[in-house]
Amino acid sequence: MEDIAKIKQEIDRAENLEELDRIRRKYFGKKGSISFALRTLGTLKEEERRKQAPALQILKREIEEAVKQRSKNLAAKEADANLSGEWVDVSAPGRKVRSGHLHPLTRLQEKVNGVFSSLGFEVVEGPEIETEWYNFDALNIPKDHPARDMWDTFWLKPESEKLLLRTHTSPVQIRYMETHQPPFRIIAPGRVFRHEASDASHDIQFYQLEGLMVDKDISVANFKAVINEFFKALFEKDVKIRLRPSYFPFVEPGFEIDMKSASGWLEMMGAGMVHPNVFQAVGYNPANLALSGAEGWQGFAFGIGLDRIAMMKYKIDDIRLFYGGDVRFLKQF
Ligand code: DAH
Repeated sequence: MEDIAKIKQEIDRAENLEELDRIRRKYFGKKGSISFALRTLGTLKEEERRKQAPALQILKREIEEAVKQRSKNLAAKEADANLSGEWVDVSAPGRKVRSGHLHPLTRLQEKVNGVFSSLGFEVVEGPEIETEWYNFDALNIPKDHPARDMWDTFWLKPESEKLLLRTHTSPVQIRYMETHQPPFRIIAPGRVFRHEASDASHDIQFYQLEGLMVDKDISVANFKAVINEFFKALFEKDVKIRLRPSYFPFVEPGFEIDMKSASGWLEMMGAGMVHPNVFQAVGYNPANLALSGAEGWQGFAFGIGLDRIAMMKYKIDDIRLFYGGDVRFLKQF
């Protein structure tokens, strides 16, 4: 019985599972002392065996039980130790989720839409594949008109159908006026296409924003006021603009608008007063058109190159960067 207490002490002092196993084998292994004692029981005389067997059985059971207990404790301790090695710092800052964002041209377009909306303009859209009629004829650009040379056109096959990728957003003016009567003010942003060699300031595709305001008694003064507001809101400061005479078949008079920058006057957009032939093409009542001044429909139209404005606003020196899909470029916005 003293032996039991001693062995139990030894077991409880085992510091880890390995050591415990060594102790267990010392008693229960092939050459273990308890195994040996049990084996020799059979060689004892009957009487002697009866005397020793019960005590030996108790010893065996108790030591087995003690090993089992200690083993459980040690296993739990080791599991704890492992866990604390993998502790979690709940105060550590979170890992940043990488998220994308809108393309700079989309951002600019949304901003421009916002500015014009606040001035009472409705945002409308038209198709990128157009007919010759909407892109040219209805805009007072007949087939033999030299102004067609201003727009290098992608014609779609078969050519007999006269379908093309729109060269400007001006056809949206026609589509809108065909289904709406004045007064109205609209803008029409969208992608346009030109068949030309690309360089730092030209690409085969770019974005324009068309504007059109028609009412009675609309003049160039109204246009100047609207466009001044637009530039001010967009560049977030007072901007100096000037109108220069220019030619576009669908307006009369026509002009080009320059904006003053640190490096001089920069050409920003084309504009003018809507040509009577355009009103006629969309079917507005000629009787109404014949009336002058406050009695007849008058309006201004303008076309802005959105890429050029984005290049100025964000100081980008090559238009092709917008369409290259290079993430290093896009990430900067
Ligand atoms: N559509 C012209 C272009 O692509 C730009 C333009 C000029 C639009 C004058 C207009 C305008 O509405 O009045 O070059």
